[in-house]
Amino acid sequence: MAKIAVLGHGVVGSGVVELCHKNHAGIVKKAGQEVEVKRILDLREFPDLPYADKFTKNYDDILNDDEISVVVEVMGGLNPAYEYVKAALNKKKSVVTSNKELVAAKGAELLAVAKENNVNFFFEASVGGGIPIIRPLHQCLAANEIKEIAGILNGTTNFILTKMIREQMSFEDALKLAQQLGYAERNPAADVEGADACRKICILASLAYGMHVYPENVYTEGITKITLEDVAYADSWGGVIKLIGRAKALDDGKLLVMVHPAFISSDSQLAGIDDVFNGIMVRGDATGDVVFYGKGAGKLPTASAVVADVIDVIKATKTNPTLTWVDTHENVVVDHMQTSVAFYIRCVAADGAFAEKLAEQCFGKVQMLSRPDMPREEIAFVTPELSEQKVYDSIQYLKENNVDVLSAIRVLDY
Ligand code: HSE
Repeated sequence: MAKIAVLGHGVVGSGVVELCHKNHAGIVKKAGQEVEVKRILDLREFPDLPYADKFTKNYDDILNDDEISVVVEVMGGLNPAYEYVKAALNKKKSVVTSNKELVAAKGAELLAVAKENNVNFFFEASVGGGIPIIRPLHQCLAANEIKEIAGILNGTTNFILTKMIREQMSFEDALKLAQQLGYAERNPAADVEGADACRKICILASLAYGMHVYPENVYTEGITKITLEDVAYADSWGGVIKLIGRAKALDDGKLLVMVHPAFISSDSQLAGIDDVFNGIMVRGDATGDVVFYGKGAGKLPTASAVVADVIDVIKATKTNPTLTWVDTHENVVVDHMQTSVAFYIRCVAADGAFAEKLAEQCFGKVQMLSRPDMPREEIAFVTPELSEQKVYDSIQYLKENNVDVLSAIRVLDY
């Protein structure tokens, strides 16, 4: 009999308990033994639940219970999750978490603590919600050199962008709906400003390249500046705007890791990923492109990944050797200004013809774009691939010459 404890009875925690009950027979069969949720930690009271007697407010009731062999941390946030998880591992309890903030900040350390104690620290649910991506990356694709990873990693922002584009819903209404559906973070700024996608690409990059990638070293831009005008220009260019997290190994051993909105061609496999769905493209040297697709947020999709990890840790007899990376204690991420990419740029100027001439002077041969009802003083274009530093300097130059740059969005070729 395996007894587990769940830390946090929010959207994901209640989903874990529900799934353990709903699919109990199958879970027991797959785990090879009886599985019981023995304790649930939450500061709130849930007197009406049929399992109200399992709740505690005191973590020591779980930590000091030798019958509990698996701790499921679904509280979110860094503290006290970090202290609780580390203490559980040091008590030789395996830990399963959906907490991307924790894994992105402390993954290397907690994996090492798990190894010292011959237990496991699993986090399939931390990236892609219900999509299997962590296990495929370190197991199924283990024979590959991972060239690149690019994905739509945040369900809330993808949901908002889809509602804005398809239904002309306002940003605020779409965000409210995402919160009601349990997709958004407690503080939705983490979704819309890109921090959540950043944590997820850091986890994937750390796993793929074996070195801890810290979120604070990753250039991150969210979706708050995207306008319906940009959406219309993306459409006339032949694509859509998506929030993309990407990681790539460079020849000098450094990594390019960034999060930002991007124009993506309608032909791309990532272009048709809408609503709360996530899509992650992994480019292996042997496999070529492999794309993982599914619900990236929500109660039961995320609980599905958590419970699968629980089944795996129950069956494990030692620490998984492939789920690992090290902390190099240095910044392994290249400065994005040194990298090259094409940009879509939208600007206004009193003299449109002058602005167009300046644009060509700054960026070289540009592809002019149009949209229905575009004002006379507006111009929009796509630059050739240039260093980000050159694009940044050129935007400054345009501004100094009374050309007001309203939007600058990278154009990616996936
Ligand atoms: N807020 C996150 C998202 C939840 O919208 O993707 C899943 O990690």
